[in-house]
Amino acid sequence: MSVKILNSFNVQDQGKAKEQFALDVLKGLSTKPKEIPSKYFYDDEGSRLFSQIMESEDYYLTDCEIEVFEKNKKDIAQKIGHSNINIIELGAGDGRKTKILIDQFLKENLSFKYTSIDISKEAIVQIDRLFKEEFPALEHTGVVGEYTGGLDWVSDNQSGRKLVLFLGSTIGNFDRPNALVFLRVLWKHLNNDDLLLIGFDLKKEIDLMLLAYNDREGITKKFNFNLLTRMNNELGANFDLKNFMHFGTYNPNVGAMESFIISTCAQEVYVGELEKTFKFKAFEPIHLEYSHKYLISDIESFAMETGFEVLNHYFDSNHFYTNSLWRVKKEMPNG
Ligand code: AVI
Repeated sequence: MSVKILNSFNVQDQGKAKEQFALDVLKGLSTKPKEIPSKYFYDDEGSRLFSQIMESEDYYLTDCEIEVFEKNKKDIAQKIGHSNINIIELGAGDGRKTKILIDQFLKENLSFKYTSIDISKEAIVQIDRLFKEEFPALEHTGVVGEYTGGLDWVSDNQSGRKLVLFLGSTIGNFDRPNALVFLRVLWKHLNNDDLLLIGFDLKKEIDLMLLAYNDREGITKKFNFNLLTRMNNELGANFDLKNFMHFGTYNPNVGAMESFIISTCAQEVYVGELEKTFKFKAFEPIHLEYSHKYLISDIESFAMETGFEVLNHYFDSNHFYTNSLWRVKKEMPNG
């Protein structure tokens, strides 16, 4: 594997990343209602906990996506075709799902290279370890950075046709305007006929969604609480974890699962890096995350509004989840 660590993720620049984290915490804990952006879940420990969530019985999304790939891998490989292709995965995760596709692509003798982009270096190293064992001949480049920086790096350094993988319904963590912006930024980094395979969790029985985000093993709670631990460790905060609870609920108006951490008593928390104390009322929430759930019509309007054509929606047997294959459509300049 070759690993590229983007600027803001270099050790010299980690001070800047910490400063940005501190500023986002200042903003988030000063607004009403309080909120912290969910991107801060994913330090190395957060990524490890998210892998555990994906393995938990109650978090159905991963099993659905695995089923979608197992059922449709041949068709997906066929649609990709035989030209040289760069497969770029945004938010590499633990590689379990991607492995199914790569395995099929190799069986079909497709010629491709694989690039994973993730903010966690540990996640990239882990995926490399897995793929080295499974596919010793696979050419893997790991890019440690945020999606946009990673895509800039890919545009500057890789030519040829691209297939972008954006799996796990990660798009659901953006609100609609930001999802549209994200998809359009992605479109800008791609060329006509490039492909996007993107996962969406569909609207379904609310109890199933509630269980997925309030799993019986309590991993989601640990995942959310890790953000408090992160603020304690990195920003010198003094959150006392036993004075907070996890709360995951479905908001039908928004069409999203929402995660909160709730202060169970009136209390004050000091954040050393900000030299500031924040007051919490009893039962005051901090909003952490949206996980949007979709209808097929939502997905088609996302594609249409951002310059893609839907080639196919692939489903699991319960129709809980879909992976949608999109093609980039660009107007060709005349002549
Ligand atoms: C990464 N993302 C798609 C997950 C989700 O379902 O929104 C993150 C997660 N949060 C709680 N459980 C899983």
